[in-house]
Amino acid sequence: MRYSLCNGWEFTADWSEAFLRGDGGGQPVHLPHTCRELPLHYIDPADYQMLCGYRRSLTLPPGCEGKRLFLQFDGAAHSTVVYVNGRQAAVHRCGYTAFRVEITELARTGSPNRIAVKLDTREDPAIPPFGFVIDYLTYGGLYREVWLDIRSSGYIEDLYVTTPTLTTAEIRAAAIDAPAGARLEAAILDAGGQPVWTGAGDAGTPVLHASVPGAAPWDTKHPQLYTCAVRLLGPDGGELDRQEAVFGFRTARFQADGFYLNGKRVFLRGLNRHQSFPYVGYAAPERLQREDARLLKEELGCNAVRTSHYPQSQYFLDQCDRLGLLVFTELPGWQHIGDQAWKDQACENLREMILQYRNHPSIVLWGVRINESLDDDEFYRRTNAIAHDLDPSRATSGVRYLEKSHLWEDVYAYNDFSHTGSNPGAKPKSQVTPDMGKALLISECNGHMYPTKSFDGWAARQEHALRHARVLSAACASGGHAGCFGWCMFDYPTHKDFGSGDRICYHGVMDAFRNPKLAASLYASQGTARTVLEIGSSMDIGDYPAGQIGPVYAFTNAEEVALYKNDDFVALLRPSGLTGLPHPPLVAEDTIGALLETKEGFGKRKAAILRNCLLAAGKYGLAGLPLSYKLKLVWCMVRYRMRFSDGVALYGKYVGNWGGAATRWRFEARNGGKAVASVTCSPSAALHLEARASHTALTEGASYDMAAVRIRILDGNDRPTPYAQLPVRFSLMGDAQLVGPDTAVAEGGMCGTYIRTLGRAGSAQLTIRTGQTEPVTLRFTITMQGEETL
Ligand code: GAL
Repeated sequence: MRYSLCNGWEFTADWSEAFLRGDGGGQPVHLPHTCRELPLHYIDPADYQMLCGYRRSLTLPPGCEGKRLFLQFDGAAHSTVVYVNGRQAAVHRCGYTAFRVEITELARTGSPNRIAVKLDTREDPAIPPFGFVIDYLTYGGLYREVWLDIRSSGYIEDLYVTTPTLTTAEIRAAAIDAPAGARLEAAILDAGGQPVWTGAGDAGTPVLHASVPGAAPWDTKHPQLYTCAVRLLGPDGGELDRQEAVFGFRTARFQADGFYLNGKRVFLRGLNRHQSFPYVGYAAPERLQREDARLLKEELGCNAVRTSHYPQSQYFLDQCDRLGLLVFTELPGWQHIGDQAWKDQACENLREMILQYRNHPSIVLWGVRINESLDDDEFYRRTNAIAHDLDPSRATSGVRYLEKSHLWEDVYAYNDFSHTGSNPGAKPKSQVTPDMGKALLISECNGHMYPTKSFDGWAARQEHALRHARVLSAACASGGHAGCFGWCMFDYPTHKDFGSGDRICYHGVMDAFRNPKLAASLYASQGTARTVLEIGSSMDIGDYPAGQIGPVYAFTNAEEVALYKNDDFVALLRPSGLTGLPHPPLVAEDTIGALLETKEGFGKRKAAILRNCLLAAGKYGLAGLPLSYKLKLVWCMVRYRMRFSDGVALYGKYVGNWGGAATRWRFEARNGGKAVASVTCSPSAALHLEARASHTALTEGASYDMAAVRIRILDGNDRPTPYAQLPVRFSLMGDAQLVGPDTAVAEGGMCGTYIRTLGRAGSAQLTIRTGQTEPVTLRFTITMQGEETL
């Protein structure tokens, strides 16, 4: 039986013996908790680094006599000492893995127990990832859930399920202190809870072999899940314990030429994810963790994610299981390797990671090197062996910036930052790995090579999207890459050594609130779940040096895109040449197209030569027009008896596009000749708000619930307005609370907020105002789920 212990805590930012004794007061808090709420920009890590404390009283529920009692901490950043009734019960030194504390001997039934946690959130150089610099913030707090787990004296400590084939499973249930004659009874249940296999063995059986001939495989399109339920039965047949593991029938193998899921080659198209959120750092509850997985799969069209640079919330991983998102997860660390004790701690963190996460069908690769560290043969032989020993079913890798470094793992993961805009997107495999017989993947690309803000100009944001396109295309086309994980999903706060001065790494394809930048549409357009069409320009000449817009890209998964000017067909966009991509962007360079024929009545030849000259004038400017075009223009004037003023008029009409009615550019995406989406670009000052909540039916269960609200200011054509940097004010009424400030700035025309429940059912109403748009109101309902909480 498991009870949530997320409520009823007191917090102090200043740990003391008095706090441990139960003296004085603390601030009432609920978990997940951040030890310090933080601003969006210019975070000083000193603000969240402290020796803080949590305490609560725990009255055990009836029936605990003779049972074994455990406290489970899902995430405590970073170094924790747990006390029960004033006595030290455990020490844990990793901010990213869960840990369990047996309190059977320390806790008393019948009267309240005092649970206290001394939490050191400081960067202790003795534990990973600390010891040198780190390009992300590490926050602090009891930032995931805490549970009381009640077991019988003999219990199942661990359940581990693998699927050597698509119709067989191996079940390893580790029974602890089982009485003589105890037995294991196992069942595999389908999604509807119906048993599809049952089996049994005595409590010491190392492996139960299950065969499910009709099993539906787990894959990225149909992530079919099964539950393995194992019961430990006493000699009299009575149930002593019961554990469940969700798993999928799937095989995941890396070979020299790539990754194979269920025997079929699948290119891993993914992004890196940190687990940070605005204001609360790591302390985001279940729904927001699940939402990130949904965004990756459904909005960003990815089939894979790397949990850089540490294991992340079980809810996030569980959602990856449910959605069919493949995961590369790794032990905590960043570039630095410490002394022997540090390495021992890293090995312990790795062990915990594998034991805690190895049932997730979504995880297909373990990262067993400290991200981007130097070779350390003894250390990495050891980590590789730990992973293979605890989970022989999965391949190992480790992320490097080094080429040809010592390869103990199964897959060479390389951060390929070689693309600089005009060179090839990726290095060839032969240049990177020392072993052509093993798979290679790009674990990161772009990132710091082209930081891009949501409020940068169109040209920069288009180039940002194109750089992701070029690397991904090169990796897809090379035949030598198993996948490519772009850096990264969203902008994240970092230390002073990195970032843009405000300590933000603007490396995301989304902003910190998970609003899409243009590059998000490059990823989205590689998926097929929904039609995507986004255009890399507003077509406003004033946003470009010398008014020269240059090639404009359409990020789309449609077959073709047609350009119209004021409803007149101009041209079909041409392929961009990034043919490695499932859906290469298309490019519009010809903004005159058929118009000289259809609108001016020019013959084919005359239209063609003038179009070339006018497009060249658009590209180079009239003053910079190369001599060859000047000569062509003179030839036209003579041949077609044109006056200089005719040329100037054509320039104004087809290049400058000024004067007269506003030019309306329409990009129409088509499949099989049928329009499936369209984007209109025209000057528009008619701003309006778009506010999207992650969910509006909030449910308080094991802990409070929190909804993310993503806000964009759009123009009259529903297009983003990157320069509408308006103040956005939030007012919330009802049974919920705002997280973060009540005013935000729409950076690049986008921002967000969060609301959380308060432990009571009811409703809430959030009104969003800018002063320059109509207000928008979102309504939320809040229900109490009646989970077992103490
Ligand atoms: C990599 C590193 C990431 C991030 C990225 C920025 O070197 O692994 O954590 O810092 O660079 O591009």
